Amino acid sequence: MSNKLQGVRGMNDLLPEEAERWEAFEEIIRDWLRSYGYRPIRTPIVEYTRLFSRGVGEHTDIVEKEMYSFEDRLNGEQLTMRPEGTASCVRAAIEHNLIFQNPQRLYYSGPMFRHERPQKGRYRQFHQVGVEALGFAGPDVDAEHIVMCRRLWDDLGLEDVELQLNSLGDAAERATHRAELIAYLERFHDQLDEDGKRRLHTNPLRVLDTKNPALEDIVAGAPRLIDYLGETSLKHFESVQRLLREAAVPYRINPRMVRGLDYYNRTVFEWTTTRLGAQATFCGGGRYDGLIEQLGGKPAPACGFAMGMERVMLLWQEGLESAGLASPDVYVVHQGEQAQAFAFRVAETLRSAGFSAIYHCGEGGFKSQMKKADASRAAYAVIVGDEEAAAGRAALKPLRDEGEQIALEPEALCEWLAQRLYGDAD
Ligand code: HAM
Repeated sequence: MSNKLQGVRGMNDLLPEEAERWEAFEEIIRDWLRSYGYRPIRTPIVEYTRLFSRGVGEHTDIVEKEMYSFEDRLNGEQLTMRPEGTASCVRAAIEHNLIFQNPQRLYYSGPMFRHERPQKGRYRQFHQVGVEALGFAGPDVDAEHIVMCRRLWDDLGLEDVELQLNSLGDAAERATHRAELIAYLERFHDQLDEDGKRRLHTNPLRVLDTKNPALEDIVAGAPRLIDYLGETSLKHFESVQRLLREAAVPYRINPRMVRGLDYYNRTVFEWTTTRLGAQATFCGGGRYDGLIEQLGGKPAPACGFAMGMERVMLLWQEGLESAGLASPDVYVVHQGEQAQAFAFRVAETLRSAGFSAIYHCGEGGFKSQMKKADASRAAYAVIVGDEEAAAGRAALKPLRDEGEQIALEPEALCEWLAQRLYGDAD
């Protein structure tokens, strides 16, 4: 490692231009979540490791090899930086009795951590927006989640996205299928790769999720979970599909889709795209009716999904161009001691009136300050010299279009600006 200090591999800085686009995106997301009645929840980044081994599953890639875990130096407790948000959200809901009386529609957003091999769209610190509906049993909420995703992709103008849908049935159906799948895979034991052999008895469904082309034929001939669904699971799955058809949301049933976390049952879905190379899935989720009980709560059904913000931002090309970069209304330049104090006050008056104002800090003649004003992309420069300050006025000069420079007292300046920028005098 060189002496130069750098960020940690797979963990990114968002510089102002990009961070502004993220903020624009976050605003859209918040309005969208509110319009469906979801409320925010914030949980800590660090949790006890056992929350994830119990919640996400001992034999998942995440728990087996991707978690950032460490021992608390002071008391020796095993802690983990959250690799996902569902387990934490459910833990908090149980701990604070949130689902005691009413079902809850919740959302969160923030950084998650997985020690994966970094590449485009795949990072070690990444961000998710997650949605969890706790205490809802019916297929309507499964459909609500999918339909709300579709609306967001449409609002963002995302292209080339596909919805893949599957049902994982209930615990008994999965147990029957699992036994038959193991028996089937054992016949091909010698042909399985290392991962396949390891997962054969711990998590055989994940063998079907292999990316190894040599196993394609074996996977293609394997018993499909969807063929083991009983009447209730089938009815649930069909109702979800009917609601999707009624909402005109196209989907493709993918009987091989298993998801990478163990808590799912019944409906699972993934939104994929052809535009992100290997990182095709940018949003995924489904029903997890057993998790609340498994984490110590009173049994209650639930479902949810999460999107990877980096991946959605990569897809949001049009938005990136049209979101526009934040620019201030005015840049305040000044010269002279008296002018400095007056300009400082004018900047505060402008902010009180609701404008964004950058006050020039530091030295520099008018000419170099005006260059900075221009570079800030401000619509106007407010100019104050000692002479203006003595008269209690500031000069206003348009930077983006032609127009006279005028000198006004601070209150009048605010009114004039409101008229010009927003077309009203209030
Ligand atoms: P997940 O499929 O593991 O599900 O992650 C959801 C999304 O997070 C993925 O579709 C992807 O866009 C993004 N993502 C995952 N790993 C990375 C990474 N290393 N770099 C960049 N983006 C990544 C969950 O986490 C579940 N908690 C979703 C859920 C909520 N299910 C029910 N409720």
